Amino acid sequence: MNPDLSGLRNSPFVALRTLLDPLEPVKGLKPLALTIGEPQNQPPQFMKDVLQTTDNLYGKYPPVDGTPELREAITGWLNRRYNLKEGMIDPSRHITPVNGTKEALYMLAQIVTNRQGKSGQKPAILIPNPYYHVYHAAAVMAGAEPVFLNATLENNFFPDLETLDEELLERTEAFYLCSPSNPQGTVAGRAYLEKALQLARKHDFMLIMDECYAEIYDKDQPEGILQVLQDLGGDLSNVMAFHSLSKRSSAAGLRSGFIVGEEVTTKTLINLRNFAGAASPLPVCAASAALWNDDSHVIENRKLYQTNIDIAERHLGNRFDFYRPPGGFFLWLNVGNGVEATKKLWTEAAVRVLPGEYLSGTTADGINPGFEYIRVALVFDPDMMDEALSRMANCL
Ligand SMILES: Cc1ncc(COP(=O)(O)O)c(C=O)c1O
Repeated sequence: MNPDLSGLRNSPFVALRTLLDPLEPVKGLKPLALTIGEPQNQPPQFMKDVLQTTDNLYGKYPPVDGTPELREAITGWLNRRYNLKEGMIDPSRHITPVNGTKEALYMLAQIVTNRQGKSGQKPAILIPNPYYHVYHAAAVMAGAEPVFLNATLENNFFPDLETLDEELLERTEAFYLCSPSNPQGTVAGRAYLEKALQLARKHDFMLIMDECYAEIYDKDQPEGILQVLQDLGGDLSNVMAFHSLSKRSSAAGLRSGFIVGEEVTTKTLINLRNFAGAASPLPVCAASAALWNDDSHVIENRKLYQTNIDIAERHLGNRFDFYRPPGGFFLWLNVGNGVEATKKLWTEAAVRVLPGEYLSGTTADGINPGFEYIRVALVFDPDMMDEALSRMANCL
């Protein structure tokens, strides 16, 4: 039976175009788009050099699980970043290189969902709300009920795990959890991660940890699920965690990331990708290995975002429930009515932002937790950010 696609929404960017394209931005100001989470600074030169020196390899079909050098480089980075004991992550059993995490986040739900349901009931996939739009489509296409768990200011913008009912947990196949979170930029603490893992193991569902923003942080390094797993003995069961070079190395166009997680699902995923996944070209594998092996460019990257957060704090610091996002590079501002503020910013200040409600679902009680918010991407150079944020402060 085909999944019911009627609930599938437009991507937030399609919805934004529908909202703003009929409206004229104010004349005389250069339009500035703070909508997309695509870093605007360049990836390091050495990445481009590696792509060039390996360009003789484009003639070869790349292996679906990347190269041993890439998997080693990924493992090395994980060990450094999360202070893991040598051997906990086995590059040949726990790592799946993927060409961008977006499609892989989608594909994983297709693998881990039992369409018949664990107990004959409709399978469910838990999604924090607001959410990265791929989670929703992935759940729908996997034949599961996407269950939105509102993530609001009261809970550090993470779903309340204490109030989930048993019946729901029993039919849950997967839980997408994003930390640092997009769009709010908050970080799940140790206790929260432990609780999520404990639920995943008790009710036998997959904890899909989206940690794509793990390297972009303001002051403290966000904890990762692998640290929790290490402290519990190093078993990776019930976890698949995602990392990407798109944010870490400003290399969104390279399309390179990876999944680290339990062996059995890694095997199934690689097997499926043999039929229905595009492997990364060998030059991309080589460039990705070089990027994972280097941390200095990431330090520079982080500094840029910290500068932009400083600028944002200067312009908006005492308004719109402003807080410095501990992770990621978005501001999540409470402007009262996100859609109206978006229209006003476009027509009066030529600044494009994303209404929070386009990133959130409306739950059965009629609440859309993104309604009052806008998301602002701090991805440009500081001069441009200064201009855009000062226009915003004056306009709203
Ligand atoms: C939360 C989150 N997860 C995953 C991705 C996908 O990143 P990529 O496919 O570039 O690795 C993004 C991209 O914006 C994101 O915001």
